[in-house]
Amino acid sequence: MNTYKIAVIPGDGTGPEVVNEGLKVLQAVSQKCGFKYHTHTYDFGGERYLRTNEVLPASAVEELKTFDAIFLGAIGHPDVKPGILEKGILLKLRFDLDQYINLRPVQLYDDRFCPLKNKKPEDINFTVVRENSEGLYKGLGEFQHKGTKDEIAIQVSHNTRKGVERCLRYAFEYTRQFGKKKQLTLCGKTNVLTFAFDLWERTFYEVAKEYPDVKTDYAHVDATTMWFVKNPEWFDVIVTDNMFGDIITDLGAMIQGGMGIAAGGNINPQGVSMFEPIGGSAPKYTGKNIINPLAAICAMAMLLRQIKETKAGNMIETAVKEIVVTKLKDLAAGKMGYSTTEVGDLVVKHLK
Ligand code: IPM
Ligand code: MN
Repeated sequence: MNTYKIAVIPGDGTGPEVVNEGLKVLQAVSQKCGFKYHTHTYDFGGERYLRTNEVLPASAVEELKTFDAIFLGAIGHPDVKPGILEKGILLKLRFDLDQYINLRPVQLYDDRFCPLKNKKPEDINFTVVRENSEGLYKGLGEFQHKGTKDEIAIQVSHNTRKGVERCLRYAFEYTRQFGKKKQLTLCGKTNVLTFAFDLWERTFYEVAKEYPDVKTDYAHVDATTMWFVKNPEWFDVIVTDNMFGDIITDLGAMIQGGMGIAAGGNINPQGVSMFEPIGGSAPKYTGKNIINPLAAICAMAMLLRQIKETKAGNMIETAVKEIVVTKLKDLAAGKMGYSTTEVGDLVVKHLK
């Protein structure tokens, strides 16, 4: 019987509540599918920072490398200045664990939850492969004449050939294996960002030669947001840089029914990957037992697929889909018709 080591970072706000439901479902599915696991919980987040003044202990990254996967709730605390926890924990882990892919599936389970008119589950079913280690997120830049009328703030997008190519290769492989239409769209801005997206575009078409079975397509990022609303059915797999990927996946989350259901994986195909609901810590809902745990539960399904417990991952996804369609009144916090813990229980009951 396979045994896995899973690191758990419940984090801030509603993170711990949704993580509990993810772990509840993990427990149930492990029994059904016959695998074992150990968890170790880390208290990284805002409370710990306020108490100790330390965002991440020095040993954290090396320790986390010894796990099979990481399950993360949310990072972000209202009493901590924006940026400190995000950069010090979330982005640091993504970078130091070299999780160079941020995989974000966008799938609508029930048209009742789509804000777009006349769009059905088969119309909204695509995946964004977001580069997760470079671009504007690298944090390169400087102030000049800070605080004066002549101040200049420079923020540079850093794109390496190696970084772009490994992301594109992952996207082509993913499309070949999972794409419903075997179509990969590069989302960029070649008409303005003529350095960064020149590199992306050249590399895209070069790598594409090795994947004659994958159709290639290009869309500017502004047009991409328009098509997410107008013709989301055109997309299959989309690959893009870190910043554009951040922006378009929030829009993606909205058309699939909102942050309550949107999950993502920070993936290092050769190392340790980290799975999370993509909405934030939602501090105003903390402790009320009303937040939707399905995004975290879907993140757990992705985690299981990554560690090759595919059957378990699929079983969770099927159960989630079923309760979204047959039980939930809404996907938003407080409107589901069930509490956080009841939604977790419902998923467990529908596992088969
Ligand atoms: C996300 C978040 C993060 C990002 C923030 C919290 C740093 O918005 O995971 O999309 O920008 O990547
Ligand atoms: Mn984001």
